[in-house]
Amino acid sequence: MVAPSGGSRRDQGMDLDQTYPSLADLAERARRRVPPFVWEYLDSGTGAGMTQTRNRAALDAVLFDTAILAGELSFDLGRRLLGRDYPLPFGIAPVGMSGVVWPDAERTLARVARQTGIPYTLSTVAAQTPEFVGPEAGEQGWFQLYPPRDPEIRADMLRRVRDAGFHTLVLTADVPVASRRERQRKGGLTSPPKLTPRLMLQTATRPAWAMGMARMGMPRMRFMESYSDIKGPLPSNQHIGYLLRTSPDWEYLKIIREMWDGPLIVKGVLKGEDAKRLAEAGADAVWVSNHAGRQFDGSPGAIDCLAGVRAAVGPDYPVVFDGGISGGLDILRALALGADFVMLGRAWHYGLAAFGEAGAAHVAHILTEDLKANLGQLGLTSFEGLEGQLRGRPHGDMG
Ligand SMILES: Cc1cc2nc3c(=O)[nH]c(=O)nc-3n(C[C@H](O)[C@H](O)[C@H](O)COP(=O)(O)O)c2cc1C
Repeated sequence: MVAPSGGSRRDQGMDLDQTYPSLADLAERARRRVPPFVWEYLDSGTGAGMTQTRNRAALDAVLFDTAILAGELSFDLGRRLLGRDYPLPFGIAPVGMSGVVWPDAERTLARVARQTGIPYTLSTVAAQTPEFVGPEAGEQGWFQLYPPRDPEIRADMLRRVRDAGFHTLVLTADVPVASRRERQRKGGLTSPPKLTPRLMLQTATRPAWAMGMARMGMPRMRFMESYSDIKGPLPSNQHIGYLLRTSPDWEYLKIIREMWDGPLIVKGVLKGEDAKRLAEAGADAVWVSNHAGRQFDGSPGAIDCLAGVRAAVGPDYPVVFDGGISGGLDILRALALGADFVMLGRAWHYGLAAFGEAGAAHVAHILTEDLKANLGQLGLTSFEGLEGQLRGRPHGDMG
């Protein structure tokens, strides 16, 4: 049983597993506890949201054959990735301005990751600095880099990230320009958030969020801001990061590879040939992702790209996956199609906004129990043999 905190008195002592058994249940409560402009930021994609819809539909289309007479089963959910053993096959993806979704989100999620033994990825454009979050992440810290244009800033950022204890670097490669994010724009969030009368009215109806923000101060991109003196608000689809950063190319990747002596993952890969070239260029892993549909509305479902990437890089090269994961079954789908590890972005924030730290811990609990429940149906005790139980390949090889 997970005891919630940060809820009303009626919620205290509630058994979350009974009342909020799925991530969708947490999302529904989160939607009622954050101001609408925050919900639009967290929940939306770009364009008509079709890539997001395809992510879900493509996951649903991956089916398995179940087992009968499987006997008693006890589970090993551990996974080895980039030289480290993790007790579970999932982790926390980078979410910029995490701290606008819920007060102190970065440190809270880092702490949950440390306690659960899973990776926490801090975004370059998070509301907090690596120094502030690093101690909470302990050994579980990954850092996601939006690449700064200026070589001195780049060197300084990497030094600070390393000194703060983050051992794995994630270079995001699928944001060459800002996307339109129409829903987010209409929601009214600017960077840094500026409380217009309309937004203030919204926050008045969300007291837990408002009180937390009053305690922590309005969220800002503190890491990025430490390299800039621009303080005024920017348009809703822009942020200070866009002023400082460049769109990396293959030459940039080479420089980062030379500068970073720990594991390097490239995030936002959908094509097998790109994955192969990245492996040859020295990336230690690729992260299959379409940025949860926030960048381009004409992408295939992310899961449909996984088998092609796996085929291109061979059986031993590490592949991470994200996009639309809503439970343990989805994690099994990704592992069966070739992922070594699966990350989630929004789900952790649903948990946080629903019940604070206990809600985020409950996300880990739901995923763990759901993994066991579904693995058992397949007659398996670990992830070995998952692929063999796939019922066909629903959309073929999209590599
Ligand atoms: C609100 C929000 C902000 C995000 N910010 C970043 C970011 O700063 N850097 C990045 O590489 N990915 C970012 N992402 C993408 C996530 O890392 C991840 O790819 C995606 O959320 C996974 O899909 P899911 O949310 O359906 O689990 C963001 C996603 C969301 C929802």
